[in-house]
Amino acid sequence: MKVRRQQKIKRTAKRQGAAGTPVKPAPKPNFSTEMIPKDRYTSRDYMQREWEHMWTKVWLLGCREDDIPEPGDHIVTEIGPDSILLIRQKDRSVRAFYNVCQHRGNQLVHAVHEPQEAEESLRCHYHNWQYRLDGRFFDIPDLETFPQGAPPCGGLIGLPCDTWGSFVWFSLDPDVEPLLDYLGIIPEHLDPYHLDRMVLKEWKTVEWDCNWKASVDAFNESYHVQGIHPQLLYYLDDLDIQIDCYERHSRYLIAFGVLSPRVVSPSEIPPPIKVVMRDAGMDPASYEGSVYDAREAIQKFKRKNGPKQGRDYSALNDDQLTDDYHYMIFPNITMNVHADDLMLFRQRPHPEDPNKMFFDYWMFELPDNEFDDEEYKRPKWRQYKHGETSLGLVINQDAYNLPFVQKGMNSAGYSGLWLGDQELRIRHFHKTLEDYVSGDTAKPRTKAGS
Ligand code: FES
Ligand SMILES: [Fe+2]
Repeated sequence: MKVRRQQKIKRTAKRQGAAGTPVKPAPKPNFSTEMIPKDRYTSRDYMQREWEHMWTKVWLLGCREDDIPEPGDHIVTEIGPDSILLIRQKDRSVRAFYNVCQHRGNQLVHAVHEPQEAEESLRCHYHNWQYRLDGRFFDIPDLETFPQGAPPCGGLIGLPCDTWGSFVWFSLDPDVEPLLDYLGIIPEHLDPYHLDRMVLKEWKTVEWDCNWKASVDAFNESYHVQGIHPQLLYYLDDLDIQIDCYERHSRYLIAFGVLSPRVVSPSEIPPPIKVVMRDAGMDPASYEGSVYDAREAIQKFKRKNGPKQGRDYSALNDDQLTDDYHYMIFPNITMNVHADDLMLFRQRPHPEDPNKMFFDYWMFELPDNEFDDEEYKRPKWRQYKHGETSLGLVINQDAYNLPFVQKGMNSAGYSGLWLGDQELRIRHFHKTLEDYVSGDTAKPRTKAGS
């Protein structure tokens, strides 16, 4: 279907100063157009290779820093078959350990994804072995009955751990490169949002019947908006998108508060754009401009009124006041980053089945003047099966569809992904993934632009 373009998205590239999120397009990578074989999504053999060569070599997001603010606070996160314990130290750093007692292998902490507190030590409830916050043995009951002494490992088995962007990261690779090297352009691009100022409003996990990559793919392209989310065509431009591929990670910049060129201009401002206006504090009834000027009007309004509302946009460019700067941190973090909120999705592989995954849904908001610190209650984590909870209309639409994608991929009548230019990030993701899985990570990846 040919589409009529009635507007050209204005981007702030030329108005951008030296500070802030870089907006210059990255050099276009030159990928082959080959089909991506479907077995990467369906085969247990590939899943195993992915675990050995990729999941155990990268940095992974473990929790939010404010999940464990005080020394002794700790939380368990799971990745594939493993369970990882993150503990706030007395010097305020965070350490990561395999969540397993060195006596008979009991998991040291049983509660998953829920912050816990401890004073001096953590105790395994099977035989009461105790560990200090830094992982060393603290007490082993009846140690004299072990003629060989305590295990020579000295305590819990530690893992690389670091923090960036208000999040705690860990790696299953003891020799992994430093976190900031791994993240590459990400801190420079996202620090201007001051993610640490955002407050957690919702977080839950849903088990989906699809491979984790099917979910990552669904958030890495806007081509499916016209199919799955037709209502968004009255809210964003799904065609004029800036796609940037960096060394491992990628992004697209997508204008919100505009019409898709796929739809005919309505006689009045569409309801979704009115919602954006109201969220900004504008009264849509008093807006007299055209729909094509709404995005710029919202940007101007927010720039002027943000400080009065208690929102500091000073490090953001005008586009960031309306648009979606969507980042993908390889391998499994997809983020819709906005001036006033962050929708962060972590896709985790199922420990045994390539046809299942865990979708972690984190919603953060930038507090305004009306936010009451005292009243705020951190939402409790819960896990659901597919369909047991709502993730909002848009994500529900994605969630509804994904199990059908997975079933289709398992059909003898399907061979692999046939990708177009709008799906460039999926191709880039697969190239990075294959560099890991084939053990070829020394190969130069797509050169980072900035
Ligand atoms: S398994 Fe932990 S104390 Fe025995
Ligand atoms: Fe979607």
